[in-house]
Amino acid sequence: MTYTSSNADVLMRAFASDWGKGKPPTLEGAMHPEAELIVPEGMPYGGGVFRGQERIGQWFAEDLWQLWAEFSSTPTDFIDGGEKVVVPVHVKGKTHDGAEVEADNVWIYEFEDGALRRARVLADTATIRDAVTGGTMVAGEQVPEPMQMVQMLGAFQLSQALYVVAKLGVSSALVDGPRTIEDLAARTGANADALGRIVRTLAPLGLFWTDDHKVGATDLGLTLAEGHPGSVRDIALFLMETHYAPFGELLRTATTGESAATHYYGKPFFDWISEIPELAEVMTGAMASITTALRAGMFDGYSLPDGNVVADIGGADGSMLCELLAHEPQRRGIVFDRPEIVPAARKALADHGLADRVEIQSGDFFESVPTADVYILSYILHDWDDESCRRILQAITNAAAPGARIVLVESVITPGDAPDLAKTVDLTMLAMVTGRERTAYEYERLLAAANCTIDRIVPSPTPFSFIEATVG
Ligand SMILES: C[S@@+](CC[C@H](N)C(=O)[O-])C[C@H]1O[C@@H](n2cnc3c(N)ncnc32)[C@H](O)[C@@H]1O
Repeated sequence: MTYTSSNADVLMRAFASDWGKGKPPTLEGAMHPEAELIVPEGMPYGGGVFRGQERIGQWFAEDLWQLWAEFSSTPTDFIDGGEKVVVPVHVKGKTHDGAEVEADNVWIYEFEDGALRRARVLADTATIRDAVTGGTMVAGEQVPEPMQMVQMLGAFQLSQALYVVAKLGVSSALVDGPRTIEDLAARTGANADALGRIVRTLAPLGLFWTDDHKVGATDLGLTLAEGHPGSVRDIALFLMETHYAPFGELLRTATTGESAATHYYGKPFFDWISEIPELAEVMTGAMASITTALRAGMFDGYSLPDGNVVADIGGADGSMLCELLAHEPQRRGIVFDRPEIVPAARKALADHGLADRVEIQSGDFFESVPTADVYILSYILHDWDDESCRRILQAITNAAAPGARIVLVESVITPGDAPDLAKTVDLTMLAMVTGRERTAYEYERLLAAANCTIDRIVPSPTPFSFIEATVG
């Protein structure tokens, strides 16, 4: 096996020499002076958080041997993520009472500038596998189908537990480090017993780690922290405060074909939300998070088709337009959305320093849109049925000169039964609006009906693609 990162190489050599055999690891000097070793209770290593080179060395040389008379830890792989290296290990040993123990664990080693900053063992591999597969496997055995089904049926409870964590700011309160449950409850206004039980439910799914005294958030748990890089907290609030309740009417949608949200709210979703400014703001925040967290990396190396004026139709607060125009100072932009979105757009453009060359216009994209050379429609057509899409595209072709370009940003459904974000989002479209996720062929037909031709579909490292088309 060859490994690309020197971090994985350092670990591999450490395991080959003294690592896991009871001697303090030297790591060839690549240990950060404030390194942390995190071991949850219940592991074959004893539990605790050990800080600093000296204490970690002592743990290897002394603490471990209070539990074990014989001990070996054999790596079965080095999964090389550069700054993060994941090492599944097979642990074998004998306690001082003579009991023989074997276990499979997964260690995660995090490096900073070539020095080990944090090592943690999450759980035994069966638990890890359960967290990844949603609990379909236990110790290498297939979980019986009735059990799998009950786990799937109970998924709504997890959605609510995640919402609690996001809404009360539990992850936000853990950004600076672990806390006791009592401290966490006091800071978030939670009941300590209830919060402790919610944390205990979510820890095996990989959100938190706990020891006797404290709870800490993992990288996954921190995605629910406000303002944290890669945060999807606003998406949690949007889904749970506007989608969760109408989804209770999916049965009705399945039999009538009518959007559950239209029935539940008594009017189409966008009309309903536009009347509640706080929720319109939550939606705009969620859309901005889709750009910063789920579309991260999609704009690298991509340039919009030529054209001086770029209009982002239904552009929400303009986060995406800012990404696309940031390095193209010669272009001007227009963010076009409903009137209630204007304040959020004004703020976002000022934050990005683009207020001088991106203007905001409000209106209804079924009626008319501004004139531009390039039109972006990001996550717009998927919200609407074919006839509504035709009307939106018609408004564009009315305003645009022949030869103007359209760029759709959408997830294109992949054929077959492979997992695909678009297939899940399609259920959202079914229940919440009149839209649908579409295949490449369906987008081609939709654009052709509005006298537009697809030029190319540019995939990205994210689930989203750029579908470029020409008007006329
Ligand atoms: C799913 S969001 C997409 C936001 C953004 N383009 C993105 O990709 O993150 C749909 C947007 O369409 C806007 N919208 C809905 N109906 C509209 C209408 N009739 N006229 C203009 N904008 C509308 C909403 O306010 C919302 O910002």
